[in-house]
Amino acid sequence: MKSKKIDTIISSIGKLPTLPTVYMKLSHLLTTPDSSIKMISNIISEDQAVAAMVLKIVNSASYGFYNKIGDLQRAIVILGMNEIKSLVLAASMSTIVKDFKSSNAFNMQQFWKHAIGCAIIAKVLAETAYLKDPEDVFTGGLLHDIGKLIHATYLCEEFNDVVANVVKTGSQMSESEKKILGFDHAQTGSALAKKWNLPWKTVNMIAYHHLSYMPDTLTKEIAAVHIGNSLCVAFRMGSGGEKRIPIVNQKAWEILELKLSDLEYVMQRSTKLFEESISIMEFE
Ligand SMILES: [Fe+2]
Ligand SMILES: [Fe+2]
Repeated sequence: MKSKKIDTIISSIGKLPTLPTVYMKLSHLLTTPDSSIKMISNIISEDQAVAAMVLKIVNSASYGFYNKIGDLQRAIVILGMNEIKSLVLAASMSTIVKDFKSSNAFNMQQFWKHAIGCAIIAKVLAETAYLKDPEDVFTGGLLHDIGKLIHATYLCEEFNDVVANVVKTGSQMSESEKKILGFDHAQTGSALAKKWNLPWKTVNMIAYHHLSYMPDTLTKEIAAVHIGNSLCVAFRMGSGGEKRIPIVNQKAWEILELKLSDLEYVMQRSTKLFEESISIMEFE
């Protein structure tokens, strides 16, 4: 009965939100060999709100550029394609999430702050641990709880019960979801990411962010998102509805090969980036 229901939900995901158009066009363009800075800048400029937000972020204090960057083409050259791509995703998703309605049970603004917070901490962890693509980790962090957005929007009644159960029992949301819905937001979110044709590593960061079930290979990217999520709850950067700080998996911590003293730098840098990002995205 319950497994039938997840199939129904997943098969109806086609009617659910699509990836932002600018992001999709940008991802496609970046795979073509003859893409130019001008073409990339033109695509971002199609959405003026997103273009303006990207420039604001690039010019914020945490990037530390002495001279103001006034045009997108320069921003692309300075930051590089991967960073621009993840900024475009964050900026465009933030405008999309604003259209989703909060309910008594689930506050969208707090949810989105949690997503941005997790993305930033996971990225700073990835940079500190010298991972190759910290921007990919940012994307995984940004989308890690996207399944909750689907549950809150399309399974409102059951999701209200889930939230009530979390409040009553203090259990993790994924445990309450499994009990009430038969599946959790990591499963729904990763199914959506597959529908969106996101790379496998992004799908896996979403699917395994709780590490309540272990992947065949525990990657450093999954570990960074897993720890980023716990730290984000611990430091109260927004809220994804959890009442308890998720316990950090020991293996995930070990695989990143960080020292406990690195955490102080990670949280100082992340807090600064978080505050700037949410003020630029007008989520204050
Ligand atoms: Fe989660
Ligand atoms: Fe989360």
